[in-house]
Amino acid sequence: MVPDAPERPKQDCQPFLRWAGSKRRLLPILQTFWTKKHKRYVEPFAGSACLFFALKPPKAILGDLNPELIATYLEVKHRIGGVLEELKKLPPADREEYGRLRRTDPKSMSTAERAARFIYLNRYCFNGIYRTNLQGQFNVPYSGVRCGGFPGDDVFKRCSRRLQRVRFMRGDFERVLGEAKPGDLVYMDPPFAVKERRVFRQYHPNTFTSEDIERLRRWMEILDGRGINFVVSYAESAEANILKRGYDYKTVSVRRNIAGFATHRTVSNEVVIFNS
Ligand SMILES: C[S@@+](CC[C@H](N)C(=O)[O-])C[C@H]1O[C@@H](n2cnc3c(N)ncnc32)[C@H](O)[C@@H]1O
Repeated sequence: MVPDAPERPKQDCQPFLRWAGSKRRLLPILQTFWTKKHKRYVEPFAGSACLFFALKPPKAILGDLNPELIATYLEVKHRIGGVLEELKKLPPADREEYGRLRRTDPKSMSTAERAARFIYLNRYCFNGIYRTNLQGQFNVPYSGVRCGGFPGDDVFKRCSRRLQRVRFMRGDFERVLGEAKPGDLVYMDPPFAVKERRVFRQYHPNTFTSEDIERLRRWMEILDGRGINFVVSYAESAEANILKRGYDYKTVSVRRNIAGFATHRTVSNEVVIFNS
């Protein structure tokens, strides 16, 4: 019997970003893996980092391959006042403003404007998806205002305080995992893999492949061999079977809104894999 994940877990520190593939509904289960023996939290596929914000660990490393995401976290960590000022300068959400910001080259902006741009596009894009074209330009369509406005200033400020304990790393997950040591809890929530071979050995947040699943599997074994606790969450699939081989796991059924519409619901199974 597969237990149901509760519909909406209560959280006193919600993330300030929306994120496709975020595991908010698995939080009640994921939170149980953080115990007194853990000194530091490590998340190499951070996205909106919903488990980090729920756990409030004393120290953490958050990593991600998405450079705009990491730049935004750093700005929220170090200069939250400037980010909030820039967000307030932006007109209310509409298709034109969204298009204008989407077309603007983030490199032409100040660091605070760039973070505000990222937060704005994240809030009003379709389904919290981050996707770029081959030139690295964000190309997710406008979703309209039904996703609500920005979180309140209090949410941003609380997140900023929590981020003071975080070291950020931009890049591939292997770099972050190389930093892990006994006493850490490593949570890995990779993107769903696509069936294609990487032509160039260059990693990209848009494409996680079967080769990446194999790399991840090797790292699970390395972490286990070094006595480091890990938890991996993944949709039930052939790839999940590769990841769970030889490790403990729980299968949890999660209700999801198809394509972001609350009226279209489906139930999917997620596996939570862990060593002990
Ligand atoms: C499913 S999301 C993680 C969601 C996250 N658990 C949350 O709470 O929102 C996967 C993340 O992995 C990142 N990513 C993709 N490929 C990566 C790689 N090779 N190394 C590190 N991060 C990667 C993506 O940019 C994305 O933010």
